[in-house]
Amino acid sequence: MLKDKHILLAVSGGIAAYKACELTSTLMKKGAEVRVMMTENASEFVRPLTFDTLTGSRTVTDQFDRLHEVAVEHISLADWADVFVAAPATANLLAKLTYGLADDMVSTTALACSCPKVAAPAMNVHMWENPATQENVATLKKRGFLIVEPAEGRLACGDTGKGRLAEIDDIVVGIESILAKKDLSGKKILISAGPTRESLDPVRFISNHSSGKQGYAIAKAAVRRGAKVTLVSGPTALDPPALCRTIHVNTAREMFASIRAISESQDIIIMAAAVADYRPKEVSIDKIKKTGADFSLALERTDDILSYLGEHKPAGQLLVGFAMESESLLENAREKLKKKNLDLIAANNIRVEGAGFQGDTNVLTLISKKEEKTLPLMSKDEAAERLLDMVLQL
Ligand code: CTP
Repeated sequence: MLKDKHILLAVSGGIAAYKACELTSTLMKKGAEVRVMMTENASEFVRPLTFDTLTGSRTVTDQFDRLHEVAVEHISLADWADVFVAAPATANLLAKLTYGLADDMVSTTALACSCPKVAAPAMNVHMWENPATQENVATLKKRGFLIVEPAEGRLACGDTGKGRLAEIDDIVVGIESILAKKDLSGKKILISAGPTRESLDPVRFISNHSSGKQGYAIAKAAVRRGAKVTLVSGPTALDPPALCRTIHVNTAREMFASIRAISESQDIIIMAAAVADYRPKEVSIDKIKKTGADFSLALERTDDILSYLGEHKPAGQLLVGFAMESESLLENAREKLKKKNLDLIAANNIRVEGAGFQGDTNVLTLISKKEEKTLPLMSKDEAAERLLDMVLQL
């Protein structure tokens, strides 16, 4: 989605300036064209040559540089840009952007940009928390800036708190989201993802191979398209997506409780989680010791969350399920669509190459009451977009 997009990256002078190199490289790998502007202070931290090399074009630092390719470079760059990104944005740059100062190349060009704007602040925790900075951030948000908030952690100055530049992937999601079509704008979407874990004792649990990748991809795509997304996630190795509320759960019972608490207010619910159908009837407080004999475990049914949602569906809500099958894919999926009162089911066959758990690709058949569409092998990100397209049609 960033292919051939013109990204104007403004790097200001903080220690996180070095992370702008990785951001540039990530954006280039995604097919974007990147031009970099640096404040004078930023070039104390990283040499412009680094960005020249990464982007293949000359980094702009000095407003009065006689080597500019065109006479009024700040205007031509501003016109060229599809999106303006300030990363890292120092407290000083945020203040300049708020008050419309134009005393160097970065601030002058920013003022001339009419394209969407993203800022990823990074600074000391006290500078971030200072009411001056907070008011500037609030003003910029009101004017349509997308602020990718700093993360918490240990800061370069030795303090601990909020102020570290957001993860590169989160900044990329922010850029994608501000450029994307906003056809889900204002819609509340609840997505479940990942496996659940059902404990036997303090050491062991029953679970499945779900990686959560498909559900997370749907959550990210929905955020990009303007939805207000809540992700209820079982344990996965994935980072929580940016700009989305993520609720972490372990068991099917916890997932059910989290979902039930907010399901009524949602416009769309997509159950991509691989929820356990059974859990151990009793959970041993102490570790179960082995003996010489065989061991059998009594299991009981968990609640079927999707069936509950189908039975309690408010008018106008759209309910989407997943079906992972190893045989009779379409018959089983059609049956689940009807039995669980769904509007759409995404079926995949664990036996098909490139489909199912763990991998980065999927082969989905989307089945509604009226239509069946088998998608070719594609990335889980792409499959997420196609699924949301079908949801919108419905
Ligand atoms: N699901 C759920 N709660 C459960 C089990 C499953 O909400 N306790 C949801 C899944 O998130 C998925 C859909 O139901 O969207 C299909 O799950 P699956 O396990 O294939 O379906 P079952 O109806 O349990 O059928 P079976 O295991 O017999 O295939």
